[in-house]
Amino acid sequence: MKPGPILSPGTRLVIASHNAGKVREIGDLLAPFGIDVVSAGTLGLAEPEETGATFAANAELKARAACDASGLPALADDSGLAVDVLGGDPGIYSARWAGPDRDFALAMDKVHQAMGRAGGGDTNARFVCALALARPDGACDIFEGTVEGDIVWPPRGDKGFGYDPIFRPKGRTITFAEMEPQAKHAISHRADAFAKLVAACSGKAR
Ligand code: IMP
Repeated sequence: MKPGPILSPGTRLVIASHNAGKVREIGDLLAPFGIDVVSAGTLGLAEPEETGATFAANAELKARAACDASGLPALADDSGLAVDVLGGDPGIYSARWAGPDRDFALAMDKVHQAMGRAGGGDTNARFVCALALARPDGACDIFEGTVEGDIVWPPRGDKGFGYDPIFRPKGRTITFAEMEPQAKHAISHRADAFAKLVAACSGKAR
């Protein structure tokens, strides 16, 4: 039997983010399914501490907090860079490696130094994005997207953000920061996770 959509048309969905750009983008993406989005910021909801051990756990924690506080279904995301030779670091600590000043030149240098200490050679890494959709009945669906790549040094390009200048997706010759935004968005971890969410909204997959 074909599964039904996870959110029915007319649903009001809280986006557990205080980032207006992110909320607008998600709203545009879900509008064709008749889903109306409102941000956690607009509702005055507090942001919980990210104490989970995985991307999925942190996304679920944020979605669950927004759902419980509002009584509405809520969507949250968590993302970062996982480097194989570093055992998945910086992982859920990707933002924290940049320090209080959000200095990603520093964070990228930390990755480079740590890889050097680990012996070099293995440059495999991936960006991961976990989306969690929490519902008032207690259910929570997770949609995880990834993009595989290699860590390169020195950093190259100035188009992206975060760790983009040291991440070269597999099969490409340029880093995420050297790509046009549309080219990155077509293959990114976020695009992968959202494609899975959108498929579930249209009842194509669960
Ligand atoms: P958050 O999920 O918005 O908290 O992001 C976590 C951190 O992961 C960001 O601050 C970035 O450092 C890193 N990150 C997540 N996605 C990307 C990306 O597409 N490019 C570069 N860095 C990213």
